[in-house]
Amino acid sequence: LPVPALRAALLAWFDRAGRDLPWRRGPEGGRDPYRAWVAEVLLQQTQVARGLGYYDRFLTAFPTVQALAAAPIDDVLKAWEGCGYYARARNLHRAAGLVAAQGFPTTYAGWLALPGVGPYTAAALSSFTLNAPCAVNDGNVRRVLARLRAQAVPTPAWVQAQADTLLDPARPGAWNEAVMDLGATVCIPKAPRCAQCPVSAWCAARATGQPAAYPAPKVR
Ligand code: ADE
Repeated sequence: LPVPALRAALLAWFDRAGRDLPWRRGPEGGRDPYRAWVAEVLLQQTQVARGLGYYDRFLTAFPTVQALAAAPIDDVLKAWEGCGYYARARNLHRAAGLVAAQGFPTTYAGWLALPGVGPYTAAALSSFTLNAPCAVNDGNVRRVLARLRAQAVPTPAWVQAQADTLLDPARPGAWNEAVMDLGATVCIPKAPRCAQCPVSAWCAARATGQPAAYPAPKVR
C-alpha cells in the first residue's frame, strides 16, 4: 500500500466530508478534553444519531468537569436518563472527582486509569486531546481495514498492527475520526458505497468485486 498517498486521500476526504459533530469542536473551536471525554463514554454504547440529544442535555446540565464533580450522583443519573448502561454515568461522576482534583490525563496510561475508560476510549482520547499516535480499533475499523487488504479473517492482533501502521502520526485524532466516518457512512457493512470512497483505488476488497464479503461473517 502507498501509505502516504492513502493517508492524504482519506484525510482530505475527512476535512471536506467528515461529519460535523458537537464533540469535535470546543467553545473556541479547538478540542475540549471534557467534551471529548463525555462524548466517547456516551458513544461506547449509544449510536451517534441517538447520542446527539443526550450529549446536549448532559453538557447543558454539567458544562464543565467541575460542575459534574460537584453535582449529586442522583442529578447525574437523572441527566443520563433514557440512555441506559448507567455504570457509564456513575463512572463519569467518579472520574470527574479525580479530574477536578488532578487535571485531565496527559498520557494514554492516564486516560486508561480513569473509571469507565477502556483501551478503545483511551486511544481515542489520547489521539484527540494529546495528539498521541494511538490507533483506535473497533468493529468499524476492523471492517475498513479488512476490506482494504481483502483479509477475510482479521484477527484482533492483525487489525491492531494494520491500524498502527496506517495511522497518520501527524494527525492521529483526525485519522481516527476519518476511519470512523468512513466506516459509518461509506464503508458500511452491507452494500458499501465504493463509488464515494476516497481510498477505493487501493482497496483490495473492491478489486475482488465482492467488497461486502470482507470480513467474512464470524462463525460460532
Ligand atoms: N464513535 C466513537 N467515537 C466517535 C467519534 N469521536 N466520532 C464519531 N463516532 C464515534
